Amino acid sequence: MKILNFGSLNYDYTYQVSHMVCSGETLASTQLKTHCGGKGLNQSIALARAGIKVYHAGMVGEDGQQLVDACSREGIDVGYIRRVEGKSGHAIIQVNPKGENCILLYGGANRKNSEEQIDDVLERFEAGDMILLQNEINLVDVLIEKAFRKGMKIILNPSPFEEQLMGYELKKVHTFLINETEGKQMSGEENPEQMLWRIHQRYPDSEIVLTLGEKGVCHCNRDGKVISVPAFQVKAVDTTAAGDTFTGYYLAGVCKGNDRREALRTACGASALAVMKKGAAMSIPVMEEVKRFLEKG
Ligand code: RIB
Repeated sequence: MKILNFGSLNYDYTYQVSHMVCSGETLASTQLKTHCGGKGLNQSIALARAGIKVYHAGMVGEDGQQLVDACSREGIDVGYIRRVEGKSGHAIIQVNPKGENCILLYGGANRKNSEEQIDDVLERFEAGDMILLQNEINLVDVLIEKAFRKGMKIILNPSPFEEQLMGYELKKVHTFLINETEGKQMSGEENPEQMLWRIHQRYPDSEIVLTLGEKGVCHCNRDGKVISVPAFQVKAVDTTAAGDTFTGYYLAGVCKGNDRREALRTACGASALAVMKKGAAMSIPVMEEVKRFLEKG
């Protein structure tokens, strides 16, 4: 089974701030760091660092060589990343002293995917292969439709959430990976149990993984059976890419044939390590670090 991640690649401009800037306010930041990121790129790196071969497809602009190189260095297959005119995507990220972030996105090349390119890439994959999608690129609905027709397993991290996602053929999704905010937006419920139940009722053929930050993670299978795994309590310095780390490590566990509980625990360990480091892709741990962390328990 091959894994294709059709997703975004961004340059991240991360500003350290005393608090998130408010409407009408001008705020001096205390530090700026520029790195490679994007939910797509981060999730490919997490899969690669967890020991999985991943094919990344997407678009970068004329300035995108560093993004491609960042993937290549990890052993990710970059043969399906195309270059288009204009700028690559970027993100302006504020991080406050609690390690919380808020992100402003510029889609750039990430919004220039075409049906022709999708057909060209999907032609190289077959039934049973997995496709991982986030919501930072255009044509997510087309990708769901075409990948489903091919018999690929669709894994969707609907992040960042937009209402228009609910109009897509989400019944075709094999697994949703969502956080609490996305869970609320998808279900209209406040309580995690109710969220899972509503989403399960609406998409009974899908598995649902709901991450709840410090409260851990829940998994609901197609029979509606729920398992919960607690989070590791660590001091966060930067939560950017924690969700991406979780997604990559969870899928890696599933691909290796681990049972769901073990895959969830490993992914929780990996994302706990990620929040203890600054940055996005650079904060994603390698499998050896995760194993050592899990052994300590
Ligand atoms: O999930 C973190 C990512 O979100 C950042 O790397 C940034 O690029 C935004 O896409």
